[in-house]
Amino acid sequence: MFCLFSRLTVLFLFMSAGAAIAILFRNTVFAASVGAVLGGGAWLVWDTWCFLRFLDWLRRLYETPDESPRRLSGAWREAEERVSRLLRQQFRLLRESETRLENLQAGLQASPNGVIVLDRQARIEWCNRTACQHFGLDARRDIAQSVTHLLRDPAFVAHIGARNFDSAVILTSPASTPAHPLRLSVLLCPYGQGRLLMTSRDITVFEQAEAMRREFVANVSHEIRTPLTVLAGFVETLQTLPLTVGEQQEYLRRMARQAERMRCLVDDLLTLSRLEGSPPPGLKEWTPVPTLFQQVEADARALSALTTGENAPQRLSFPDADTLAGEIAGAATELQSAFFNLVNNAIRYTPPGGEIEVHWEPQPGGGACFSVRDSGPGIAPEHIPRLTERFYRIDSARSSATGGTGLGLSIVKHVLQRHDATLTIDSAPGQGACFMAEFPEYRLRETPAFPGWRGTTRTPGIP
Ligand SMILES: Nc1ncnc2c1ncn2[C@@H]1O[C@H](COP(=O)(O)OP(=O)(O)O)[C@@H](O)[C@H]1O
Ligand SMILES: [Mg+2]
Repeated sequence: MFCLFSRLTVLFLFMSAGAAIAILFRNTVFAASVGAVLGGGAWLVWDTWCFLRFLDWLRRLYETPDESPRRLSGAWREAEERVSRLLRQQFRLLRESETRLENLQAGLQASPNGVIVLDRQARIEWCNRTACQHFGLDARRDIAQSVTHLLRDPAFVAHIGARNFDSAVILTSPASTPAHPLRLSVLLCPYGQGRLLMTSRDITVFEQAEAMRREFVANVSHEIRTPLTVLAGFVETLQTLPLTVGEQQEYLRRMARQAERMRCLVDDLLTLSRLEGSPPPGLKEWTPVPTLFQQVEADARALSALTTGENAPQRLSFPDADTLAGEIAGAATELQSAFFNLVNNAIRYTPPGGEIEVHWEPQPGGGACFSVRDSGPGIAPEHIPRLTERFYRIDSARSSATGGTGLGLSIVKHVLQRHDATLTIDSAPGQGACFMAEFPEYRLRETPAFPGWRGTTRTPGIP
């Protein structure tokens, strides 16, 4: 309304000025009328010029939004200011929504899951970096491509075709390789009008853990079933056959051995589950090295005497008690169990008359190494990396015959990992074996009672 009034006012001023000028020349009504018309014409020319400048400004505004106003006059100035204000407001809103979109995209980029936004024709509109890694996509090149053209897994194509989005589909990633397998759980969520949000989750580790769990349960069942079957057989024999007292004693002895085997297995399983379920020992509990060695030596000598008898005893050598010093940070029972497991293996796998040396030696880096060297049959290189797997045995019959559960070295590995120590196995067939557990410096300390552990530990040589 104001604009219209202002334009009419200016038009009136131009016409009046035209009429006034005409009257100066000739004071007639006709001259005044002609002057007014000419004044109106002049206004029209001026107004059209202003309008063209306004249009030009608008056009430039599309190209450069910050273009400054033209400083027009009259109603066009008003129009220019209003358009300017409106555009500023729109630009601000646009910038705000752009910032929001960028933040949203940054959030989705940070997601550990793959995210792909699909349009109504299942074409990719946007995807994050994880999705690119999961599906081998290129975030620029593959935009607007149909997702089923890029992911041709039949299970996925059938899933998206059936539009059954209640459950996830499991597939192998196109980026999967034998060295780095990648299994994905892909979920499609419909939203908006026929659009889809596709998310992918890396489930390789879960699947591997599940496979390991199944294998473990199968192994445990097998390990328990074997002595159980033998026990049941002996029970049946005792029940059905008329046996002499001597035979009965023999059967009962064998039954006791099977029962003992099951007890050892359950004990080892419980030890493993305790190790997995409890927090790793910190640096607050300190175990004296001499005490550890005393216990391990006593148990080892008793076991060796029991297994090899007196005719061809094994030659066992341990560090002298007075050469041992210092403390290890960690759980005494765990360390004791790990050290004894290593010595136990050496005794059981070394034939009578063989040699077994146990050492505790400082290492150049400040740590110390517990090692058990034997003169047994040795281990072929292909077995060495697998020895710490649960139930892995080189010779199952021999392991079972000597009362092994196949869990000893798994327990050792667990205990050492919990104490930041590393296990190294050095062996070759026919050349004995050496198992070394190296502890880092920060897990060891000297004590007033046991000073100087860092000095060379003297080990009595084997004659
Ligand atoms: N000192 C050793 N000499 C030869 N073989 C060994 C020695 N220690 C372990 N092994 C091999 O490693 C396998 C796994 O050991 P472990 O986990 O302690 O189970 P096991 O209960 O059979 O002793 C054993 O079955 C054995 O074949
Ligand atoms: Mg063992």
